[in-house]
Amino acid sequence: MSERRNQVIQLSRFGDPDGLEVVDAPLPTAGRGEVRVRVLASSLNYTEVLIRRHLYPQTMRLRPPFVMGYDVVGEIDQIGDGVRDFHIGDRVADMTVVGSNADYRTLRAGEVARVPAGVDAAQAATLILSWTTAYQLLHRAARVQRGQRVLVQGAAGAVGQALLVLGRLAGLELWGTARGEHAALVRELGATPIDYQREDFTRVLPGGFDVIVDGVGEDGYRRSYAALKRGGLLCAIGFSASVQARRRMLAIVMEIARLYLWRVLPGGKRARFYSVNVMRARHPTWFREDLERLFGLLAARAIRPRVAERISFDEVAEAHRRLEAGSLEGKLVLCPDPPLRRDRVPPQREPGPASVPGTPTILLCVSVRKFRARSNGSWSRPWSVLAISPLGVRLGPSVAPAERPLLPRKLTWIRNHRMSRKCQ
Ligand SMILES: NC(=O)c1ccc[n+]([C@@H]2O[C@H](COP(=O)([O-])OP(=O)(O)OC[C@H]3O[C@@H](n4cnc5c(N)ncnc54)[C@H](OP(=O)(O)O)[C@@H]3O)[C@@H](O)[C@H]2O)c1
Repeated sequence: MSERRNQVIQLSRFGDPDGLEVVDAPLPTAGRGEVRVRVLASSLNYTEVLIRRHLYPQTMRLRPPFVMGYDVVGEIDQIGDGVRDFHIGDRVADMTVVGSNADYRTLRAGEVARVPAGVDAAQAATLILSWTTAYQLLHRAARVQRGQRVLVQGAAGAVGQALLVLGRLAGLELWGTARGEHAALVRELGATPIDYQREDFTRVLPGGFDVIVDGVGEDGYRRSYAALKRGGLLCAIGFSASVQARRRMLAIVMEIARLYLWRVLPGGKRARFYSVNVMRARHPTWFREDLERLFGLLAARAIRPRVAERISFDEVAEAHRRLEAGSLEGKLVLCPDPPLRRDRVPPQREPGPASVPGTPTILLCVSVRKFRARSNGSWSRPWSVLAISPLGVRLGPSVAPAERPLLPRKLTWIRNHRMSRKCQ
């Protein structure tokens, strides 16, 4: 019987992607209160470029060598003492910040979220950082209201796409800055595109935006702040422009600190920096609740995050280069080698279209051409199913009443799409 290996992506030095190496590490053992998972998927995030370049506040104290990997979807293969609620084979997810680009890793059982059966592991992994950030920005930090006008900077990126999809479900009027070649994507996701290389977003809405989410931070967020309406809110979440310009950490920290000084300026505009890690530290249950809510939407096919490519360990360094070069339209997801046949859990059946149990639901097959205009062309298959229920909508068993404001009241658009089995 071959011995199980634990390949990991180790950062051997801060700097360029050449510091990323595939190495064999010892197989970890689940300690008290922990589970060990076989990693099914770990998505690559722009934030990991910051970690690699030693520009990420949460990992400033870490020194190489350490294992990269911000998030994980895995299948439990070992249970430590004192863990009661989980079984071998259960699928769970966590945001680990580091350590998940591996074949195996351990997780604190009390912190993981459950991943519903049947969802694609790579798609589920894309939700952990980017979509939870987007959800919390809209519903926890900005507390958006239906009809508000929201501008998303970097709308074609991972967080940007999630903001548009979730913002549309929340009934917002959306604009998104992106390079011109991504205009169709931004429009398809329900927003008005603004070409950041040609147009001035501060002139698009003379009255100003209610909320602006800015992960780019050009000009130290000044223009985003200027584009707010009186009483509007700027949520800064990142500083990729400063990273590209190779600014020092101190200069970046000063830009963020200045956001809080702007609060005293006249005009009633507000500005803050949102961090998913800070919010998780303050409200640990929110993170799990919000992620499980998103998994519920994924299981119900109400959202469909884009996976640009599923990659192997050998491709991670190149993937970091691609992340830095930009212009991706979906996420790169590390999917470690498929398990040996004898270790595999039987594949789950793909769930059928969701409906309210016990409620009469009309299912209509409609041609994509008829609905392209109404759904902004977001259908990707020639035939789709429209479900109408007189009692409103419930998108699946794990969707709780709390997220009703997120969902369209009368209709659910349920898409049939082929699920890739590669990361299952
Ligand atoms: N605070 C938090 O908790 C938190 C959580 C997650 C992410 N973040 C941060 O949020 C930011 C976005 O993350 P992500 O994962 O979505 O990154 P991403 O997938 O790389 O997306 C960034 C997007 O910004 C676009 N962009 C670059 N320059 C721009 C400009 N001047 N104007 C408008 N768009 C521009 C890029 O488009 P092109 O390259 O195609 O031009 C890309 O589509 C990053 O700074 C990340 O570190 C923060």
